[in-house]
Amino acid sequence: MAEIGRERWSNRTLFIFAAIGSAIGLGNVWRFPYLTYEFGGGSFLIAWIVGLIIMGIPWMMMEFGIGRYFQRSAPGVFEGIGKKWEWLGWWPVFMAFLIVSYYTVILAWSLHYAISSATIAWGMGEAGAAGAGDYFFGTVLNLSEGAGVLGGFQWPLVGLLALTWGILFLLVFRGARHIGKIVFWTVIIPWALLIIILIRGITLPGAVEGLNYYLTPNLAALASPDLWFGAFSQIAFTLSLGMAGMFAYGSFVAKKADITNNAFIASFSNCATSFFAGFAVFSTVGFIMQALSIPVGDVSASGLGLAFVTFPVAISMMPAANGIIGIVFFLCLFFLGIDSALFLVYGGVISPVMDKFGLSRTKATAIICAIAFIVGLLFTTGGGLYWLDIIDRTACFYGLLITGALACIVVGWKFGASKLREHLNETSDIKVGAWWDWLLKLVVPAGLLFVVVYGGFMQDIPAPYGGYPLWAASMIWVILALTLGLSFVLQAIKTKPSKEEAKK
Ligand code: PHE
Repeated sequence: MAEIGRERWSNRTLFIFAAIGSAIGLGNVWRFPYLTYEFGGGSFLIAWIVGLIIMGIPWMMMEFGIGRYFQRSAPGVFEGIGKKWEWLGWWPVFMAFLIVSYYTVILAWSLHYAISSATIAWGMGEAGAAGAGDYFFGTVLNLSEGAGVLGGFQWPLVGLLALTWGILFLLVFRGARHIGKIVFWTVIIPWALLIIILIRGITLPGAVEGLNYYLTPNLAALASPDLWFGAFSQIAFTLSLGMAGMFAYGSFVAKKADITNNAFIASFSNCATSFFAGFAVFSTVGFIMQALSIPVGDVSASGLGLAFVTFPVAISMMPAANGIIGIVFFLCLFFLGIDSALFLVYGGVISPVMDKFGLSRTKATAIICAIAFIVGLLFTTGGGLYWLDIIDRTACFYGLLITGALACIVVGWKFGASKLREHLNETSDIKVGAWWDWLLKLVVPAGLLFVVVYGGFMQDIPAPYGGYPLWAASMIWVILALTLGLSFVLQAIKTKPSKEEAKK
């Protein structure tokens, strides 16, 4: 495995920013606060921190560490462990590809909303509270009656999706060194925008009640498996692990550089951002509860409805500067998500393809961005939201958790957790002890498999996922099987050394 010629981050700070930027995304703003709320505030936070420490951090150390060890992205790593394992590096590549194809559509919605902030068309205050839902599902998405009816394209979304892909192409086609410079800004800008939203939120009437709901612990809830399911699934989702990309990001780290400390910094910064965003979100939710005189439980604080329905109503009801706060909020979403998209497409897909087929970076970037754009068009149709949800369940739930668990098992048992630990400790500020081996070999896979079985199979096998017709919900299993098959096909193809690396 030639180390010479491998592209590199320009310095350690930028590598950390790249990792933080990949992890921080839309999930920190909508998914974390709503889960916290649903599972009893403070008690959820306890389970979430336990998940971070026993699963998230050891898992991140593994992905960075093994990527650095082999100096290759995910497929190369597993090929290095043993030729028969290469498929396990490709399966998450397909997942990353599917995720980025719809994640960019959510970014396109954010741009749509940022632009419509000029007229605050997305939520006309108290008078139009119900209208905010109509605006999102009707005007923006033109939602069809079911997954079987695609309807036409929503052309404004198609245009904004093309713009998002244009931006992504320009950001990634020059590689890790340039990505490092960009992610500094894509991390700092949303942090700054979140601070503005937080200040606006906590100075609104009703904010305190919202924060009470966010933080009040209910210790009895700790006995519920649902709470642990929620916490562990959020940890798996929020750190952007299990998606191939972090192997590649680790492979751009020079062999002498620290890994363990960086994994600590990146995962803590990500979780601190979630915790902080919770204050901004819940103070605002408290404000609408009060303004509309409705009980908390009736506020739609879940899922995408929070960002694209509840928040627009709240913003349009604020006493002043609504349009500006609207722009700040939706640009914040865009900036939060753009570096996760960049990570998925570059670390998750382009880098593995370059490593395998020896394509030049520009060519690989152009081909993959174009294909992902075309696949993403599905999500800009009237039935797009249903398919977005089904593909999200396939890739970001099953794909992420199953490939993540298998990767920890293969690295932990086949490559050897203690061998990797020695490799990490050679260069790291924080030395990890033998406890790490067992976290990687047993605890992380067990935690991930618990989430898949408890929150996945046990729900989706007896009844089709999401109440969709059986044929549509079955696409989850079809896509998982198909991508697994394709991963074996790729394993059978011979690896061609990259021209760029061979030249140097
Ligand atoms: N971690 C991202 C978030 O919290 C989501 C994500 C998942 C991004 C997988 C990339 C890959 O929004």
